[in-house]
Amino acid sequence: MAKKNRIRYVCSVCAHEEAKWLGRCPSCGSWNTLEETSIEAGGGGGTDRGADRKTTARVQRLESIEASAANRFSSGMEELDRVLGGGIIPGSSILIGGEPGIGKSTLMLQIAGAMQQNLSVLYVTGEESAGHIKHRAERIGIGSSSLHLLCENNVDAILRSANKLEPEVLIIDSIQTLISPEAGNVPGTVNQLTYSCYEITDWCREHGAAVFLIAHVTKEGSIAGPKLVEHLVDTVLQFEHSGDEVRFLRPLKNRFGAVEEIGLFLMDGSGLHQLPNPASRFLARRGCELPPGIAVAAVYEGSRVLLVELQALTVPAKGGLSRIYSDRIDSRRVSRMAAVLEKHLSLRFSDQDIYVNIAGGLRIDEVGIDFPLALALYSARTDISVPRDLAAAGEVTLAGELRSISHLERRRKAAVDLGYKNFFGPPNQKDSENKGTLTLSTAVQQIFNPKGEG
Ligand code: TYD
Ligand code: MG
Repeated sequence: MAKKNRIRYVCSVCAHEEAKWLGRCPSCGSWNTLEETSIEAGGGGGTDRGADRKTTARVQRLESIEASAANRFSSGMEELDRVLGGGIIPGSSILIGGEPGIGKSTLMLQIAGAMQQNLSVLYVTGEESAGHIKHRAERIGIGSSSLHLLCENNVDAILRSANKLEPEVLIIDSIQTLISPEAGNVPGTVNQLTYSCYEITDWCREHGAAVFLIAHVTKEGSIAGPKLVEHLVDTVLQFEHSGDEVRFLRPLKNRFGAVEEIGLFLMDGSGLHQLPNPASRFLARRGCELPPGIAVAAVYEGSRVLLVELQALTVPAKGGLSRIYSDRIDSRRVSRMAAVLEKHLSLRFSDQDIYVNIAGGLRIDEVGIDFPLALALYSARTDISVPRDLAAAGEVTLAGELRSISHLERRRKAAVDLGYKNFFGPPNQKDSENKGTLTLSTAVQQIFNPKGEG
């Protein structure tokens, strides 16, 4: 019996599905982004070719299967390996999303140049000419490599070349330019994106080749976004920048590693480089006393300690309605710390507008930021500076106690190494069992008024 296709309307920005067409996506609020998509009855989103391949599947015993995670290989860039969980797994698929111009093609060309020394790498571009790529390759110093380059956007043609070359690593720049003849004539539609990515990742899984898929993220939603193919890949990385030359690479999903990891790069005239001295990169050193509202935090991002400068400012709320402006730290965390200070230190925040920032553009979502955030807010509200040789870390409970956090000793050591003689954190588990918990109000007293005056 012939299968009947089901028509759905899928948002090209957030991948939300509706049974009927709507002018505005109810999930992300974008206008005119719902596209008609046909989904094969029975669930499978693949093409006939995909279905043919599936018929060759065979049952295997678990013990007879080799674990591919043990065969990880290096991308040639330590920061990328770190974010991937220790290197690339053969046959895995990695999606790299980011705004146009952030450096996705540069990163991919750089790792392609490094990996082609030991592996067969095929770089497919549907966006740029071979001359353009060569120009970039010369700029980053890999102009004379024997990297395989293919300027093509037709998926059938790409897979024909891949079948001939049998690459161990395939790079697709970008998925929005891919065209699969089965999915219509216009690149970048929801159908095209899901069909093409399915075809490519399926080929790679079958041939044991690792694939990097570059995806542009645009706010306008005129091009279908990477959200649509996240379920097809093993790892999703997001490339972000801070407004200057520092680039952050964050995993949003990782089947083979931790998502708390973060890769830090510096973009200069010769491509992307590992960030020198990441631990102190986000500090603004001052030769004098700190201005009120500044506190230094020792945060644990992924597998390393970074020292960051927190800035807080409070001003009387306009119109009686107090608001929090904080895009580097979750504003709910800021409002929780303000509430704890209000309750346990009798410091009024509910009639204040609160501004919070982190120097250097880093976003922090780690419990250890609670305590330094409380210190910055306290300092901003009272106009008393935090001592300049003090770095802090710790979780603060709603009951106003300091709670122990992971890697306390490593944080202390990183802070001391960078010249912060006074690291203030919660007592470790053993100490708090013996001596009782430390409250935020005692800690604040010890830091801001150590001689017990006033
Ligand atoms: P690109 O990798 O083309 O970005 P994407 O693929 O994400 O769109 O990088 C584009 C920007 O990077 C461009 O503004 C030029 C800059 N750039 C450098 O600063 N240094 C370099 O060595 C290279 C190759 C690019
Ligand atoms: Mg590009």
